[in-house]
Amino acid sequence: MRTRFIQVSTERQIKTVESLAREIWTEHYTPIIGKGQVVYMLRKFQTRKAVSDQIGEGVLYFLLEAGDEVIGYMAVQPRDDELFLSKIYVRAPKRSMGYGRRAVRFIEDLARDRGLRRISLTVNKNNTGALRAYERLGFSNLGPVLKQIGGGFVMDDYGMEKNVSLRGGTDPRSGVKTDRLGRRCSVRSAVRRKRV
Ligand SMILES: CC(C)(COP(=O)(O)OP(=O)(O)OC[C@H]1O[C@@H](n2cnc3c(N)ncnc32)[C@H](O)[C@@H]1OP(=O)(O)O)[C@@H](O)C(=O)NCCC(=O)NCCS
Repeated sequence: MRTRFIQVSTERQIKTVESLAREIWTEHYTPIIGKGQVVYMLRKFQTRKAVSDQIGEGVLYFLLEAGDEVIGYMAVQPRDDELFLSKIYVRAPKRSMGYGRRAVRFIEDLARDRGLRRISLTVNKNNTGALRAYERLGFSNLGPVLKQIGGGFVMDDYGMEKNVSLRGGTDPRSGVKTDRLGRRCSVRSAVRRKRV
């Protein structure tokens, strides 16, 4: 099945994110964190306005499409030295079919394009399925991360990260070409490599 990642920009796409979030978070997180916290977090982070504000602040949202069907979404935030994977959600009937792996590959390419060598994320300590999936996808567990989110709720997570090997790209700050280790390519060394 052809998989596409579509960057969210229109009102209609933002509305799709809002309804996917409502469906997936309610189904997946209610047994983990309880209904009260799910409702609070959806209102705080995944309404149309909240998503639109996040996009305005530099968060990149993507819809995940398989064939003609939208089957999930992701959000990433480029930081100085890493790409923070803040959301990755596949609809329940489409899980464990390889879409998460394809999504992470896409995110690795995004990091490479920006010269970022690491992807980081946080995952609820009791979200055991996602924890296992991240481990299979090459992420290492860095230990507990506790975050107050207001309303008397906390996010009781593990921090995880994955290093990204650079295949060559462009230094995001200078625009200078880099080799696969992220080193700047000088014209002379490029010529030397060509002659060899
Ligand atoms: C976590 C999630 C994004 C992974 O996407 P996916 O499409 O199910 O993952 P894939 O099918 O590509 O699987 C990737 C790897 O993880 C493993 N995996 C996936 N789900 C797993 C689970 N529940 N338990 C153990 N391993 C799992 C797969 O076996 C695969 O490893 P392998 O290729 O070595 O066999 C998806 O399951 C999901 O949306 N879960 C619910 C929401 C969620 O918790 N999101 C993360 C928030 S932090």
